[in-house]
Order: sequence, then C-alpha cells, then structure tokens
Amino acid sequence: MIDYRKLAHRFRQLYGDEPRVFRAPGRINLIGEHTDYNGGFVLPMAIERETAVAVRPRNDRRIHAHTLNYGESAEFDLDSVDTVATGPVWVRFVEGMARIIDSDVTRLRGANMMILSDVPPGAGLSSSAALETAVGFALISMTGGNVDRIALAKAGQRTEHDYVGAQVGIMDQFVSAHARAGHALLLDCRSLGFEHVPIDTARVSVVICDTNVKHDLASSEYNVRRAECETAVRLLQADLPNITDLRDVSEAELDEYGTRLPQTIRLRARHVVTENARTLEAADALKLGDMNAFGWLMWESHRSLRDDYEVSSGELDTMVEIASRIEGVLGARMTGGGFGGSTVNLVARERVRHFTEAIEHEYLRATGIAATVLISNACGGASEAKIELQDESSATGASRR
Ligand code: GLA
Repeated sequence: MIDYRKLAHRFRQLYGDEPRVFRAPGRINLIGEHTDYNGGFVLPMAIERETAVAVRPRNDRRIHAHTLNYGESAEFDLDSVDTVATGPVWVRFVEGMARIIDSDVTRLRGANMMILSDVPPGAGLSSSAALETAVGFALISMTGGNVDRIALAKAGQRTEHDYVGAQVGIMDQFVSAHARAGHALLLDCRSLGFEHVPIDTARVSVVICDTNVKHDLASSEYNVRRAECETAVRLLQADLPNITDLRDVSEAELDEYGTRLPQTIRLRARHVVTENARTLEAADALKLGDMNAFGWLMWESHRSLRDDYEVSSGELDTMVEIASRIEGVLGARMTGGGFGGSTVNLVARERVRHFTEAIEHEYLRATGIAATVLISNACGGASEAKIELQDESSATGASRR
C-alpha cells in the first residue's frame, strides 16, 4: 500500500504546497479475456496495488508532473500543441489523459502533480490503467466538478489508443474506476452496464503469480488479435448479417458458419465466443458460491487462450501447469493481455501458504526464474485518499502557504 503521507510530504518539498491525494488500483481479470473489444463480458477485480497522485491546482493551464518511481519530471501547457509525449512512456499517459479530458470531458485547470505507484509494470496488472485513472480522477477533481467515472474510463482507453498505440478495450480503466471492495465486477463491454458480484473470501483466496517475464502490450500481437476478430465478424456477416461483434455469435452459429473462415480466424473466433459463455457462467457460479465450477471455467479459459487465441507464453503455461498439480487449487489461468505477465489462481484459503511455497519452488526449478506471488483482496475503485496532512506537516515542519 502507498504511504500517502510520505507522498504528501515529498509533494510539499517539491512544490511547497499542501496537496490532495487521489488513488486508483491495478486489476486482475478473473475470467473474460480478450472479450472486451469484442463487445463481450469481463469479470475483473481491482487489487491492493495502486497508483497515487498528489495534486494541487495552478493558476495557469500548465501541467507539471513528477514521478517518484522514476525520479523524472515533465511539463506541458494545455493551451499549446507542443507535446512532451515523445518522452518516457509514463508521460504519454499523463499528457494523454490531461488533453483528452480537457477536450472531451471538462475544461481543466493547470496542476502540479506527484505520482507514486506500487503496481509492478509489465506484470499484466494494469499499471497503466491505474496511472491513467488516478491522474484523470485527480485532474477532474481539481475543477471542483463531479467525476463521471464512465467518461474517465473512456478517456483512459483513448489515451492508450491515441498516445500509446495499444488498441485496448475498456476493461482495465473501467474496473479501476468502478471497482467495489470485496467484489468482482461483471461488465457488459457493449452497454457498459455492470454488476458488483461478491467474492466468497472466507473460503478462497485470489493468488496472483507474476512469471516475471515482461510483455509489451503496445507490441503488435495485441492489435493483430483485434484485427483478426474484426475479420471474423466481416466474414461471418455473409451468413449472419445482423452481427456487429463476435459477442453476437453463438457457439452453434460458429459451428455452422465458421467452417468457411480461414483456420486461424476460426480459432480466434472460437476463443471469443466460448470465453463469453464461460464468463457469464462463471458470474453465475460466483453468485451461487460454487467455486469449484468457477475454477473449472478458469482452466478452460487458459486452455482456450493458449490453443485457440495463442496469447499465452511458455512461462504462463508452466505456471498454470504447476498450479494444476498443487492440492487446493480450484482454478488457474493467465490474466490480462498475455505474452507474459501473471497468472491468477483460486486457492482454498487453508492451502494458500502451501501453494505459495510450492509454486515458487517449482517455477524456479522449471524455468530458472523467480516468481513473485501476491495475495490480494478485491479493493475499491478510484477515490480520494484520506490522510491526516495536518499531523504530518507539523511533525516535519514542512512549509505551507
Ligand atoms: C489488456 C487490455 C484489455 C483487455 C485485456 C485482454 O489488459 O488493456 O482491454 O483486452 O488485455 O482481456
């Protein structure tokens, strides 16, 4: 967890002013992978890793941002087209959010910001969505207006498209903005209707295992998959003229008309169509507290991502295979975009310690790489962090204005 008081203290040291602090979490996806940009369903939850932004409005329209993670700063002017988004990646997220919110959501004031995150980058835990959401939430809050969380999530998604070149769906930003503690979030990515579904943490724990092999979402494969899905829709429209997304296609229809698709395109479509069905089934299982059924769907999801969608990696497969041999594991699968990153494991509570030891040991033995294991409750979405700034500043004697 982020030490907000330390962040506020560092902010005062740099800017000489008292900040407010906003935070937004990273996420794992329990099931529903690569369905969001196909108009389908996802079931993510926010994790206890987050990005915090200390912020204070300025009297001009300049945004100055400093990240404690990299010790770097950037500054740009909302009234000038001069961009700094050619610099480090984190700057692109900040500038993208600021400019997109300013043009599409609400006119912003300039601001000084300091950023601190404990979401590991490249682990498939949506460090970028946490950054976008926290920055956007902080900047909108400085206008004095209410935060429209759907507009916030959409601005995050557009930032990925326009400033990073990753054609992502809406899942990560949406859950970072809308999550509720103790709950997973069932989201219909077409209508953006959603439901909070409680997770029975008395019986099971969600254990995240980072393969520590980094992926690059902006790299071509994610966008290739998205284009393949669009091709599938276009070809299937010959027989199914009313479909607009793969979400509209049933398994029976794919069996009947899919034979006309090129092999690779058919496999991609099969993953999406079956994953959508699994996600709705998993949400029902979660509501009924049937965690065995939920776990079974997770194994199936991994198989489909590995064989049909081909977005897994050797390390992810090894991690899931090891989990399948450990007692008390109800289900395991890769989570997020793929090509590295983390697995999510549903583990009987009393077996968590044994699981952690076994997976660390076996994964190291099989790959020579040390895994990072994180056990997380489902936490709440973006919010203002409550800190007792008063106490801290008098203790440190920091300057105030
Ligand atoms: C990444 C994207 C999401 C989603 C997942 C795959 O996390 O940001 O929009 O497409 O991959 O489910």
